[in-house]
Amino acid sequence: MSELRLRVSGSADLTPTVRRFALTDPRGAALPAYEPGAHVVITTPAGHKRSYSLVEPGGARPREYVVCVRRDPGGRGGSASMHDDVAVGTELPVSAPVNRFPLHPSPKYLFIAGGIGITPVRAMVRRLRAQGRSGVRVLYLTRSAGDTPFLREFGGSDDTVHHSDEHGLFDLWPHLAEPDDDVRVYCCGPAPLMQAVRTLTAHWRASRIHMEPFAADHTSISAPFKAVWAPDGREVDVPAHLSLLDALRRDGIPVESSCEAGVCGTCRLALLSGEVEHHDSVLTEDERLTSVVACVSRAVSPEVVVGPRDHLRKDLS
Ligand code: FES
Repeated sequence: MSELRLRVSGSADLTPTVRRFALTDPRGAALPAYEPGAHVVITTPAGHKRSYSLVEPGGARPREYVVCVRRDPGGRGGSASMHDDVAVGTELPVSAPVNRFPLHPSPKYLFIAGGIGITPVRAMVRRLRAQGRSGVRVLYLTRSAGDTPFLREFGGSDDTVHHSDEHGLFDLWPHLAEPDDDVRVYCCGPAPLMQAVRTLTAHWRASRIHMEPFAADHTSISAPFKAVWAPDGREVDVPAHLSLLDALRRDGIPVESSCEAGVCGTCRLALLSGEVEHHDSVLTEDERLTSVVACVSRAVSPEVVVGPRDHLRKDLS
């Protein structure tokens, strides 16, 4: 992933917890192109790598990248560093945009965004509505009006904005009960929302359903498996609620990590045997044959053999 060094040219609080950052080239050059749904990986001043969706629709020669960061008091420090250590003028390492959540052509769209999951959705909806497209519906689910970024942009007749503090849980079923091949569903938000949409669209054609990959909590939907640590043959049980990374660490096997969201590659391990469902945003298809990103990817076979990144298959013999 190529890296840029960009300067924060603007910063503003959109809500008490969500801050907008604009990033530009220090010499004013145009930035690499991107399309709606793309994200960048920012290394915060405290050294965390975090992926943030670009909230503007993009294009061929953007002058800036705009991201929005919700401060997460229970987080691991990435959002706190963005809020506390970054000001206008701060220079940050930023990856070139990556798009694992592309906007595909479709007669109609249903966008489902939960909380800060609105960021890639906003880019897509702005692009489509700027083109004069109809049939673009948005369900935007947040806790309260006071903590809803871009609230005023989603007041049209095709939009439903729901605040759970006022109205309780939102019933998605009426919107998803009837599968429609003319509609693509895009969802980004917290893991329970994404899981609910997955479940409620099980009867849709899979190609119509699009989930923001780095927003998904893959550990919540997977089966337990066993990992064998190749250097010493140790067997590690990975329960459904723990990542491979956390299970290895629990058993005293140190594995470095940074983003813990499948975007930086720090926790990449050699995959020596077994089948894996890959959920990362860093490995190529070829690399996926011999590597696994331990923070997000899981085995689909009962057992996998893994080792440090430089452990080659021949080391098994
Ligand atoms: S820690 Fe970044 S990909 Fe796993």
